[in-house]
Amino acid sequence: MSPVSAPPTRGVIAPIRNLVGAIAENTTASGGPGQVIVMVGLPARGKTYIAKKLTRYLNWIGVNTRVFNAGDYRRQIQDEVVKKPKHDFFDPNNREAKAIREACMEAALDDALGWIKSGGRVAIFDATNTTRERRKIVFDKIVYKNGLKCMFLESICNSDNIVESNVREVKVHSPDYKGVEGDVAISDFLERIRHYEDIYEPISEEFEGHFTFIKIFNAGEKYVIHKHEGYLQSKIVYWIMNVHITPRTIYLTRHGESMYNVTNRIGGDSDLTSRGEHYSMALAYFFNGQTIPGLRVWTSWLKRTIQTALHVDAPQERWKALNEIDAGEMENLTYEEIEANHPEEFKARECNKLTYRYPGGESYQDLVARLEPVMMELERQGNVLLVAHQAVLRCILGYFLDKPVSDLPYIKVPLHTLIKLTPQAYGCEAEFIRFPIEAQDTYRPKNC
Ligand code: SIN
Repeated sequence: MSPVSAPPTRGVIAPIRNLVGAIAENTTASGGPGQVIVMVGLPARGKTYIAKKLTRYLNWIGVNTRVFNAGDYRRQIQDEVVKKPKHDFFDPNNREAKAIREACMEAALDDALGWIKSGGRVAIFDATNTTRERRKIVFDKIVYKNGLKCMFLESICNSDNIVESNVREVKVHSPDYKGVEGDVAISDFLERIRHYEDIYEPISEEFEGHFTFIKIFNAGEKYVIHKHEGYLQSKIVYWIMNVHITPRTIYLTRHGESMYNVTNRIGGDSDLTSRGEHYSMALAYFFNGQTIPGLRVWTSWLKRTIQTALHVDAPQERWKALNEIDAGEMENLTYEEIEANHPEEFKARECNKLTYRYPGGESYQDLVARLEPVMMELERQGNVLLVAHQAVLRCILGYFLDKPVSDLPYIKVPLHTLIKLTPQAYGCEAEFIRFPIEAQDTYRPKNC
């Protein structure tokens, strides 16, 4: 190997710090005590998957969260041996490489702590942290030196099937193996895992009983929750226990065109137009013509979603929480009427659609809070067709597509369009299937 010749703690950290410093400047404070979630586990145990998905959830509920991944820090080093390492780089007896890896972990953790100090709320430190010694260093730094909360999140997986499919589907596509033939990458990665196995010490209740930790066994077969405290940690525990990795598809659609859509009125509980009914029939044709295992249909309590899903041949559930954003005193009005009769309300909403709350009604932020139990249940489910409303679907899409919360009110969700979401390794693929049935365009761009 051609090692990084400078002392790792200098030569490695400085360029990394410059890189991440630029990101940290944009952080805004989001209140509440800062905490670091420290991932623990062998490679290919889904740590990065959990870290990214948890980040998406926390940001969506308004908790400013960011992942700091040790591997990403390593890959910033401009040395092919470090950037695209062979398995022996991870051999615990390779002292030079170990020093580089430790320097990268230190840099990631330091930046996580710095980011919290500049206003971030939850930093997720995504590294293996497989030894007791390492976890002690990390814990002392977070808790004693920086006065922050620390929660360990360990993923333990003894199922060869889960590990092998993770290596095959995710790890061989890592930048570490760019240009490397699939089978070569797989066998190298399995060797890498073996190096970590040589030194791995799972979190021990006996020796590390003072830690707050969650252990996830075999991607959710069993959990151990130890000493969690406070609102946020409880939320994280609950979320972790609800998500699953079984492949499935989520279909989202707005109701068919409604009477209010064509007269530009908001809210209310109007029926479908004839074009809306046509969409309802086409949707049924689409779903009834294929077998989607265990498909369930969710609608709101409003007539237009129930009418839209009416002919789909699958068990149906009605959720009041899926009702459209409550426009309060502005319900049943057109935007023109709001502008003419309530100009201040109109302007306030145009300029801050995310936090603006209709008098007696809701804001987009309120809507996210209302939808949280729905999302939790959606995470637990298999294949679902969810028929809802423009604002509601913007919030749901924002969650799955990891959009900044400020973008939610402007996501395009056209009528007569079925959105097919397929969860992938580190995100979600979205396919927009436009049905050839004319409909009113209800999109309003930002105008302030
Ligand atoms: C890596 O460098 O890819 C991971 C380092 C670690 O967390 O052990």
